[in-house]
Amino acid sequence: MGKLDDIVSLCKRRGFIFQGSEVYGGMAGTWDFGPLGVMLKRNLMNEWWNFWVDQRDDMYGVDAAIIMNPRTWQASGHVDTFADPLVECKECHGRFRADKLVDGATESITTEEFLAADVKCPTCGKKNWSEIKKFNMMFTTHVGPVADDSSIAYLRPETAQGIFTNFKNVVDTVYPNIPFGIAQQGKAFRNEISPRDFVLRDRECSQMEIEYFVKPDAWEESFEKLRSGQHEFLEGIMGLPKEMIHELEVPEEDRAHYSKRTIDFMFDYPNGEEELMGLAYRTNFDLGNIQRESGKSMEYRDKVTGETFVPHVIEPSIGVERLFLAVMSASYVEEDDRVVLKLPENLAPYKYCVSPLLKNKPELVEKAREVYDLLKKKYTFVTWDDSGNIGKRYKKQDEIGTPKCVVVDFESLEDDAVTVRDRDTTEQVRVKIEEL
Ligand code: GAP
Repeated sequence: MGKLDDIVSLCKRRGFIFQGSEVYGGMAGTWDFGPLGVMLKRNLMNEWWNFWVDQRDDMYGVDAAIIMNPRTWQASGHVDTFADPLVECKECHGRFRADKLVDGATESITTEEFLAADVKCPTCGKKNWSEIKKFNMMFTTHVGPVADDSSIAYLRPETAQGIFTNFKNVVDTVYPNIPFGIAQQGKAFRNEISPRDFVLRDRECSQMEIEYFVKPDAWEESFEKLRSGQHEFLEGIMGLPKEMIHELEVPEEDRAHYSKRTIDFMFDYPNGEEELMGLAYRTNFDLGNIQRESGKSMEYRDKVTGETFVPHVIEPSIGVERLFLAVMSASYVEEDDRVVLKLPENLAPYKYCVSPLLKNKPELVEKAREVYDLLKKKYTFVTWDDSGNIGKRYKKQDEIGTPKCVVVDFESLEDDAVTVRDRDTTEQVRVKIEEL
């Protein structure tokens, strides 16, 4: 694994991720995906959807609006409790998350506990602190032409509520058997006090979430199945090494306001262990709140027993950017004189790169174009590279994680075979074009 700076630099150099609004000096906590980044990001998201939704009979998808009726966030508890402890240095006016400045502190840290830790301001080194204030992390906006209290709306801080508010619509249109899940991928926004560690903590991120609805007394069984499913997905499909993933049973005082049990899946990122994703038992907290706030029944009628109840919920939730960084960190290798991104083949932006050995020999270029067209039809994600010398092309393809480089040389004109170079071993073998 490389250092975080090496990965940031590779991401910029090769067009994976750029600083958001870079041309205007940037916008903290926002990131733009470039041509290669979009390809990798879409592969992650498509694989997730394929694994969790398409391959199963008990999952359904939704794609809800980002701006929701503000009553959503009153009912969900986000208006009152979605807040981080903010502390301000009275000398330099730097603002920080108090719990991040004290070793082992939780989000419920008090001013007394913070002052007792005798922390120095990370910016100016002084120790003159304000009281801790709770800072709500939801971004507000105004809907319509008048900006007053009655037009306030929020950018959703989690995609989950778009699922809960559509629970009845889904039940009444596809009649699912319980247990069943509703999945969603999309943007979420959090006004983080201190965005940090590249894309790990952003103000705008993408989440992939499932709300899995179960009978109240059957939540543990589904929790365990979804728990082992996370390992299958992270290790088997994303190729993350088992030993870099650690489960953390979150103690009650650190759990979100809606959770009765949470396991965080931690990952060994370049800057240390951090949360990659969470698995939470949200009980019937959300559907119960919606029922109260809207006055509409959120009950499910069991098709076999006729029994009615408000389902309980297990929620696996993962941030796309955190998954992206985990995959990048696990794949990044520095070897002798090269940097290689050893991405699993299903995630690599391009599966093949095709080149003529020399770009000024029309017969080689023509043959290489034929090979390119053939592979493009078969594998879609194929790139063409005739820049620089062959060594430089390999270097570039190694850095963007292309598993195979195909080179057309003079012999190819005679034997209809090409040289195929393997990204990970650098071994080169001769392969008949028809066998590619
Ligand atoms: N619906 C539950 C929920 O939103 P969360 O633990 O606050 O729970 C779930 O967020 C996941 O979303 C996290 O595990 C992480 O992968 C991702 N995430 C949360 N905040 C993020 C941020 N500021 N930047 C990047 N990813 C974030």
